[in-house]
Amino acid sequence: MLEVTGLTKRFRSRTGVVEAVRGVSFSVAAGEVLAFLGPNGAGKTTTIKMTAGLIRPDQGTVTIHGLDLCHRQSAAVQHIGAVLEGSRNLYWRLTVMENLLYWGAMRRIPYRQARLRAMDLLEQVGLTDRAKNTVQTLSRGMQQKVALCQALMHRPSVLLLDEPTLGLDFESSEGIKNMVRHLATDGTAILLTTHQLDVAEELSDRVAIIRGGQLILEDHTKAVLQQYSRSAYAIVTETPLPSSVLASMSDLPGQVNVISSQRLQYVPRDGDTETLYDLLGLLKPYPLLQVERHQADLAEVFQQVVNSEGEV
Ligand SMILES: Nc1ncnc2c1ncn2[C@@H]1O[C@H](COP(=O)(O)OP(=O)(O)OP(=O)(O)O)[C@@H](O)[C@H]1O
Ligand SMILES: [Mg+2]
Repeated sequence: MLEVTGLTKRFRSRTGVVEAVRGVSFSVAAGEVLAFLGPNGAGKTTTIKMTAGLIRPDQGTVTIHGLDLCHRQSAAVQHIGAVLEGSRNLYWRLTVMENLLYWGAMRRIPYRQARLRAMDLLEQVGLTDRAKNTVQTLSRGMQQKVALCQALMHRPSVLLLDEPTLGLDFESSEGIKNMVRHLATDGTAILLTTHQLDVAEELSDRVAIIRGGQLILEDHTKAVLQQYSRSAYAIVTETPLPSSVLASMSDLPGQVNVISSQRLQYVPRDGDTETLYDLLGLLKPYPLLQVERHQADLAEVFQQVVNSEGEV
């Protein structure tokens, strides 16, 4: 659906040339959510703007449904909806409805149809009663929701979201997350940047991490989480273990970390799946509260990947 190949962008400023994006390639299939992550200044927004056709790449191509965006084939633009940082696609002095209808007109949606679509979207984000208010009188979270509605007016098959849940309260951000899920289920290809890694983990099928303008990881979210999950076990007992029992564990191969008299961490040797049962045998008379294999979350993966050594 969306295919980005070799995108490169340099900015010239007084202090020199910034290579914001260096040879970034990825694709997003219909119905897929790609979480596009990276530290501040990594090049996410610049990539999204090039993907949306808002700034021209120095090199590289963006194709949507096989149509080349960079050659200004307007048909490609018709398939994209984008919500950029800070709801900048809205006219602050126009009302919410006027903004949506204006966008509808830009996308050549017949007026009556645009009105119905706008009302439907506003209802989905809980802003029906704000339709006649000017955008400048709305809270930042509400503006963010209107920006999303605007991006969805023409039912784009590719949706680009730059930090869509930034600054939203719990309920609003749950609402946006649900909309993203539904849109993906309906077949929309979604590119999502966020610094809220729990949101990325919940929503994404695949994850791409960019650092210093280059992609340093790209894979299925599940595979990434599995790969970074160390094979460690957390064991919690209901009652404190006597020191003699704790001492006897030091003979086991692998590493036993005694976190407290009721809480252990066990890291077996690579590939050893048997010794865990020896350890549990030693604990036998004592009731267990929990035995759990360590599972990495995206925040942990992100930290490891971004802080890892390696040329960039
Ligand atoms: N218009 C511009 N002129 C000059 N430099 C720019 C411009 N836009 C972005 N840059 C630079 O390009 C780099 C990437 O910026 P970008 O906004 O894409 O990062 P980002 O990953 O979106 O960061 P954040 O997480 O803070 O939103 C930064 O070094 C930034 O200073
Ligand atoms: Mg950004």
